[in-house]
Amino acid sequence: MIMADASGNIEPAQFGLDKPASQSATGLKGSAHYDWGMQDRLARIFDPKTRRTVMLAFDHGYIMGPTSGLERIDLSIVPLIEHADCIMCTRGVLRSCVPLRCNKPVALRCSAGSTVLTELNDECIGVGIEDALRLNASMMAVMVGIGGPHEAQTIRNLCQMVESGNRYGVPTLGVTAVGRELTRDARYLGFATRVLAENGAQVVKTYYCDDGFDTVVAGCPVPIVVAGGKKLPEREALELAYRAIDQGASGIDMGRNIFQAESPRAMIQAVRAVVHDNARAESAFEYYRDEMNG
Ligand code: 5RP
Repeated sequence: MIMADASGNIEPAQFGLDKPASQSATGLKGSAHYDWGMQDRLARIFDPKTRRTVMLAFDHGYIMGPTSGLERIDLSIVPLIEHADCIMCTRGVLRSCVPLRCNKPVALRCSAGSTVLTELNDECIGVGIEDALRLNASMMAVMVGIGGPHEAQTIRNLCQMVESGNRYGVPTLGVTAVGRELTRDARYLGFATRVLAENGAQVVKTYYCDDGFDTVVAGCPVPIVVAGGKKLPEREALELAYRAIDQGASGIDMGRNIFQAESPRAMIQAVRAVVHDNARAESAFEYYRDEMNG
């Protein structure tokens, strides 16, 4: 018996026998064997054309309270979000201040536990996978204090987040700690970033260092995004971004050097020019001044 909807169909013939099947993937370092959901989330964070990202970080309040530039996130940060590829924030600020219309991938701060008033980096997992999924996070950020007094606990935090992220296809961003006792040279940063990647972080955030940053990138099997750190003059912050990208970083995850700039809107656009258009620091700074004055 012929089923009614099986009759009169066009015979399938467009098999493209002379064309290899596409091997589409994010093309990001180390990602070839990830599952579809994981790759999809990464592809939202990293621009598919440049395979790089500009992340706007404004999670500082979870350790620093109402940081300069973040007093009113609705006024200072929300207007910048359209220029970012991804936003990095806490669940508290996401729910209270970030409008749904922003519609950007979120790197959700998931570790918590101490502030600058006591002992930094004494953290646990503050946000679990369930709330991360409820918030539709594209990535979960966990701080890890390699070489510091909380090394073991923070590595456990990372492993726990990677474990649940892998179960549901959510990448984990391993964040190398800020800490007075930690030296920011290539030897330390190369060590710390490698340990985070070995423990399963799909993306690692770290700091730029003047000598040997290319070896830090080369030794890390997953993409590295670079934090800006304390506020620098705008020209210097763009130089830092340029050097990091030029030496292989896959993105910039910048906070204070954007939202504490004289013109945050011009600054984030100048950082975009460095990351996505390979602009050198000098021309990005000219662009910054033109945007600010224009
Ligand atoms: C705070 C963070 C920040 O997101 C990170 O340090 C990026 O911001 P900045 O460019 O201001 O350093 O992880 O804990």
